[in-house]
Amino acid sequence: MTNGLTIRENTFTAAEFIALWESVWSGAPAFEQVEKALANSVYRVGIYDGEKIVGMARMIGDLGLCYYIKDVIVRPEYQGCGAGRMLLDRLLTFIRKNGVPGTDIAAELCAMPDKMPFYAKFGFAANEAQRMRLMLRAGEEA
Ligand SMILES: CC(C)(COP(=O)(O)OP(=O)(O)OC[C@H]1O[C@@H](n2cnc3c(N)ncnc32)[C@H](O)[C@@H]1OP(=O)(O)O)[C@@H](O)C(=O)NCCC(=O)NCCS
Repeated sequence: MTNGLTIRENTFTAAEFIALWESVWSGAPAFEQVEKALANSVYRVGIYDGEKIVGMARMIGDLGLCYYIKDVIVRPEYQGCGAGRMLLDRLLTFIRKNGVPGTDIAAELCAMPDKMPFYAKFGFAANEAQRMRLMLRAGEEA
């Protein structure tokens, strides 16, 4: 790549995930949760400067009808040099390649308002639907 960064598929670890998360947000999830989530993600991609991970994204999905894009993060000191575009290009290529030829597949995500223009560059658009969410505590009876 012209920015000197390289891409690796399905390799980044829970420790790398947490380090990247902590470079931009507080309150990272627990190591065991991340390990389980990565093992059950359909695809994940990391951006590397040499051996150092500087960006990541992952997707959950069914390959046929829909995907949900999660945890798109580029380390602050690497933002603005094309790493985010590398991540999104790779995710969208995976979706096109693995679908049923000739059919439409939905790629969805949740974005803060200041990140919506970034996703709009790849064709994402908001509609009238609102995200609804319920947080549950694992291991507790209903
Ligand atoms: C959002 C994020 C992934 C973008 O990564 P990045 O490496 O800075 O993006 P790129 O340099 O590849 O930019 C790609 C294009 O998007 C544009 N862009 C990037 N962030 C933007 C923003 N917040 N608003 C508008 N445009 C943006 C760039 O100008 C560039 O445009 P161009 O190709 O026309 O020149 C990065 O800012 C980030 O990790 N932020 C913190 C974590 C976060 O909020 N993630 C998103 C969760 S919803």
